Amino acid sequence: MADLTSEITKRRTFAIISHPDAGKTTLTEKFLLYGGAINLAGSVKGKKTAKHAVSDWMEIEKQRGISVTSSVLQFNYDGYCINILDTPGHEDFSEDTYRTLMAADSAVMVIDASKGVEKQTIKLFKVCVLRHIPIFTFINKMDREANDPFELLDEIENVLGIRTCPMNWPIGSGKEFKGVYDRTDREVSLFTAAMNGQKEVATERLGIDDAALADELGSHFYEKLQEDIELLDGASSEFNLDEVRAGDLTPVFFGSALTNFGVENFLQHFLKMTTAPLARHSSIGDVDPFSGDFSAFVFKIQANMNKMHRDRIAFMRICSGKFEAGMEVTHVQGGRKIKLAQPQQMMAQERHIVDEAYAGDIIGVFDPGIFSIGDTLTTSNEKFTFDGIPTFAPEHFARVRQIDTMKRKQFVKGISQIAQEGAIQIFQEFNTGMEEIIVGVVGVLQFDVLKFRLENEYNVDIRLEPLPYEHIRWIENPEEVDVEHLSGTSDMKKIKDLKDNPLLLFVNSWSVGMVLERNEGLKLSEFGKN
Ligand code: G4P
Repeated sequence: MADLTSEITKRRTFAIISHPDAGKTTLTEKFLLYGGAINLAGSVKGKKTAKHAVSDWMEIEKQRGISVTSSVLQFNYDGYCINILDTPGHEDFSEDTYRTLMAADSAVMVIDASKGVEKQTIKLFKVCVLRHIPIFTFINKMDREANDPFELLDEIENVLGIRTCPMNWPIGSGKEFKGVYDRTDREVSLFTAAMNGQKEVATERLGIDDAALADELGSHFYEKLQEDIELLDGASSEFNLDEVRAGDLTPVFFGSALTNFGVENFLQHFLKMTTAPLARHSSIGDVDPFSGDFSAFVFKIQANMNKMHRDRIAFMRICSGKFEAGMEVTHVQGGRKIKLAQPQQMMAQERHIVDEAYAGDIIGVFDPGIFSIGDTLTTSNEKFTFDGIPTFAPEHFARVRQIDTMKRKQFVKGISQIAQEGAIQIFQEFNTGMEEIIVGVVGVLQFDVLKFRLENEYNVDIRLEPLPYEHIRWIENPEEVDVEHLSGTSDMKKIKDLKDNPLLLFVNSWSVGMVLERNEGLKLSEFGKN
């Protein structure tokens, strides 16, 4: 029991969210370096691979027989056991990216100092807010020309709607980046670049009242810093750990991942401010992570890691207790006991078979096709289910036409299975059955994946006709409104999902508001219930 408690207490499970190119890979790599999980910078794979076009990506999967997208990186640092969840970005941005955030306990938001808050960051941020998880901001690339730091904070507050509390403050940027001022210990760390160092180089630190500081910074930067400090102390939100943990306040750090400046300091603060896995809500109330019973939920299903067997790996987040290889658990939704076979975990970039894992960890188990996203597994005698994972709004839609109508059965089977894995969402015309199918995806790459997989795995050719809709809303209260006779707009389309829930598609975002106005009592949601 002592073992269980200490193992879980040292776990920290988080995701790094950012817009492509902000520096997520670089930051992850530095974290791994500090933990000694990798030896040389530059070995974190993923970015370059992820940038490949579809065909290349499929080729890679074929050649290697495994999926190129990883799921979690685990390493130890300073007595902590850290799980970094991978949120695939770039062209393969998909629902998986969102779902991964359901498995995280906190998020690190990386922002490029010269670009500010970008599109993908906004989308991922919204999902974090939905869960009220703590968000830590790392403003990266201070060694390049950066936007004004006050403007960056304003942007985060206005665009994302979260209050900020700068923990440190940059002095200059780009060629004139002098370092950062630590607001807690009132010291300036002078900038030194350590490109590939295993550890952050010991930077020179000078107290704010140190007479040498003005010389080091030069009078312009020294005076500017004094002014900034005064402004900050007067105007910025005060640090409050409870608000941070509730996701209402984000601590902000400035640094430069590439040059290894401010990264380890950030990691140390981050680890102290975050908590070990917290209780998770379920149908029987909160489930205590330290409970003796193992429990977990499936948040991601990855198909076709070995094409010969058409097998799938179900990734699950452990919410309580300890996992032991070969253990028997109840698959609540399936209503039966199963043995969890071939458990896997990612250590740095290699797959390992794991013998044991604890609350906070992610494991991937062999799935013979029985799991769905959101399923609960537990050794408890009491049957319960964790809160479902919402269905995220697709942003691209297409009508699917089957070329050979004789293969109807394979087509329906294939498309349903792929939808069950959560790679795509399928919808139907409002008043028809499966003969007219509309697919919705979060990232356009998923259309190609769908076509490729239907051809290769189910021997079915399809044609996809893009539809102009970009906005989707689930009708939250269909029993309270007359869905058949809604007063719509000319760009609106009524559809239903596989559970017959009614939805609306729109070409223009402003039509959403118009339809709400025209139909009193109508409630629309960006997230579907599972
Ligand atoms: P991502 O995973 O968020 O997409 O970003 P990634 O870490 O791959 O970084 C994107 C680019 O930004 C990389 O350059 C990387 O070297 C650079 N970068 C990351 N952090 C910093 C930083 O603190 N300062 C500066 N100046 N650059 C930074 P690239 O040229 O696209 O890739 P590479 O060929 O150098 O690997």
